Amino acid sequence: MLEIKGKVALVTGASRGIGKAIATVLSNAGGHVVCVSRSAKDVQAVADSLPNASAAACDISSSAGFKELVNKIVEEQGQLDILVNNAGITRDALIMRMKDDDWNMVLDINLKGAFNAIKAVMRPMMKQKSGRIINISSVVGLSGNAGQANYAASKAGLIGLTKSTAKELSSRGITANCIAPGYIATDMTDKLSAAVKEDLEKQIPLGRIGSPDDIANMVLFLASDEASYITGQTITVDGGLVMI
Ligand SMILES: NC(=O)c1ccc[n+]([C@@H]2O[C@H](COP(=O)([O-])OP(=O)(O)OC[C@H]3O[C@@H](n4cnc5c(N)ncnc54)[C@H](OP(=O)(O)O)[C@@H]3O)[C@@H](O)[C@H]2O)c1
Repeated sequence: MLEIKGKVALVTGASRGIGKAIATVLSNAGGHVVCVSRSAKDVQAVADSLPNASAAACDISSSAGFKELVNKIVEEQGQLDILVNNAGITRDALIMRMKDDDWNMVLDINLKGAFNAIKAVMRPMMKQKSGRIINISSVVGLSGNAGQANYAASKAGLIGLTKSTAKELSSRGITANCIAPGYIATDMTDKLSAAVKEDLEKQIPLGRIGSPDDIANMVLFLASDEASYITGQTITVDGGLVMI
């Protein structure tokens, strides 16, 4: 069984969906997990349900706020080994109708938020000469999607950010990888109509929409010692939907 005993992990967007599953899997694998989202109440409830976890409310689009949070974690826990950039939002519209605010907000949270987090954890990880950075992208960052130009651009940007991070930090013992989930059953995809979901299932070779645990299990692998020779990669977890 994969383990991360004695490691400290920070998971953004841990109050529900994929982030909650990631926090649960990492905590069950022996890590201490700091669960982060904007809603203090929701993220505290997740942390309280786990064997070894704490919670912090933080908006990842604030670089100063995130830096303060990371300093506090390192002060309290003495280390920070794993960063999972999972928090993300959608504001869908065709480009013709997309408001500037919706473009800016999605890029600010999904891409700039991950940059803020990576910049904040680099120093303590470099000091430790070890670390794992795992960014949650999306298959639409690989394929594009009508009605999601802002989201697809943010998720494609994360892939470039991951490769650059891997190249800058590999000499310090830090790996950076991306996971590109396909369609996963969470609040984010709950908005899709039953007809759209049925149509999607027909396009997925493995015949089902994914579960948050499908993604969390890949995060655990990338965070574990068993993945120490993997960096700069984007691993698609999508039931075979996108094959390149
Ligand atoms: N579901 C899918 O099919 C799918 C597919 C591919 C990729 N993904 C990606 O996987 C990740 C998780 O998706 P999900 O479906 O689990 O989404 P979700 O259910 O909507 O959850 C999003 C999480 O992000 C947090 N969050 C949003 N903005 C934040 C901010 N500014 N600062 C801190 N936390 C923030 C939310 O909590 P608060 O609102 O309390 O802040 C929540 O915990 C996202 O990056 C998404 O793009 C999802």
